Amino acid sequence: MRCNIALLGFMGCGKTSVGRRVAQRIGWEFHDTDAIIEKRVGLPIPEIFSRYGEEYFRALETEVLAELATRRHLVLATGGGLPVREKNREILREHFFTVFLRVSFPILFERLRKSTGRPLLKKYPSFSELQALYESRVPYYSRAHVIIDADFLTEEEVAEEIVRRARDCGVLV
Ligand code: S3P
Repeated sequence: MRCNIALLGFMGCGKTSVGRRVAQRIGWEFHDTDAIIEKRVGLPIPEIFSRYGEEYFRALETEVLAELATRRHLVLATGGGLPVREKNREILREHFFTVFLRVSFPILFERLRKSTGRPLLKKYPSFSELQALYESRVPYYSRAHVIIDADFLTEEEVAEEIVRRARDCGVLV
């Protein structure tokens, strides 16, 4: 039974801020895989990547997701790379109502240019490199139960739409 909601999408699409609003609207707990990992390791994400490597981070993502999947009534913001792992997709499929926040790449790039704290922006610094990463992930995000085109919506409008779709799908009564 899918009794949790997970937000999927590329870095900068608004998973954390929208997720908080959704949780507030429906009275569920909000969690963010990145924040849980940072707390568990005691280091910010860029430090985790530079000290222990991306694979270590990815293993923690799966560990955290599996733990959260045993809970009920959570809204979860996932890291942008989380749905790439088969195991994570399996967990999401089974325990979460999934929502892809689709934002066009040029808009994301504009937002991310000003952002710090995301190690993959150093690994893929140019527009075309990051776009290739984005495009490689779209097929995974697109398997979500619901896709919301968020380019021209406010965070509040996106949150409202998610709640509406979750109701329509029987996730919320
Ligand atoms: C990542 C996205 C980040 C974070 C890490 C790796 C990715 O989360 O998990 O830096 O692989 O796209 P956000 O999508 O919340 O920025």
